[in-house]
Amino acid sequence: MACLPGTSESMPSFAGGDGWRDYHKRVRPLPPDIPLRVAEQIADHEARVLLLGVTRDLAELGDDLTAVDFCREQIDHVWIGDRPGRRAILADWREMDLLAGHFTAAIGDGSFSTLAWPEDYRRALERIAASLAPGGLLVVRCFLAPDEPEDLHRLLDDVRAGRATNFFGARWRIGMALAASGNVAVAAIYDEFERAFPDRDRLASTTGWSRETIDLIDAYRDSELVYSFLTRQELLATLTDTFTRARLVSSGDYPRSERYPLLVAERRA
Ligand SMILES: C[S@@+](CC[C@H](N)C(=O)[O-])C[C@H]1O[C@@H](n2cnc3c(N)ncnc32)[C@H](O)[C@@H]1O
Repeated sequence: MACLPGTSESMPSFAGGDGWRDYHKRVRPLPPDIPLRVAEQIADHEARVLLLGVTRDLAELGDDLTAVDFCREQIDHVWIGDRPGRRAILADWREMDLLAGHFTAAIGDGSFSTLAWPEDYRRALERIAASLAPGGLLVVRCFLAPDEPEDLHRLLDDVRAGRATNFFGARWRIGMALAASGNVAVAAIYDEFERAFPDRDRLASTTGWSRETIDLIDAYRDSELVYSFLTRQELLATLTDTFTRARLVSSGDYPRSERYPLLVAERRA
């Protein structure tokens, strides 16, 4: 780690990721297409990879990989462990001060949806761009809001009638429908879910979702996190100061994958 200042040992034990402390308990494996598609995208940029977060399924990509996450618990429980060519650093993407121009690619899964838009995007993108070599590649799976916001009441009716196939997709559609200016408090998603579906056993029988799955919504209760869901246009417009040739490519073939593409862009020279 000689080239990168601020190893986990030299940083405070908590760097700002308080809202993420319990997240490791509900981390699920990614659909296998996703790491394969990310690997395809960075095939010519594999030398030194920056991972935004500690996502296990992406941690073996690249010849050499540095993960950056600001939550000590996430590093302790989710990170694959430091070894030659793999390391995790405790730092905030919005403030990280990594070696300028060091990385050949920056990758992540849903990383930007954890940032408030637009200010945190601007700060994180500026820091990511600074750490990438000119022409370095950004490849991050994003969760796109629809171009026209979904009507919340119609969406909740769809769920009640068993027309929403998947709990996780429905949970995020509710988040996207509630989002104002791109951002939504995670606790507000919980509140809306509770209001709309007070009888969870009934919801389980009409949707076919298990009670165990439905109860995962409890992780959102009293959360202090804010998620952001941008439309395609908002996302691409946010990159223009720091990146070029931005495009959205498929992240694979799994439920609702058309809404969850890989954002691919090159650092401006
Ligand atoms: C990358 S996202 C999504 C992870 C992925 N979908 C998964 O479940 O593995 C979540 C991770 O980002 C980290 N994170 C969120 N905001 C951050 C920031 N500003 N700086 C550094 N890490 C951050 C959280 O601590 C958490 O570990």
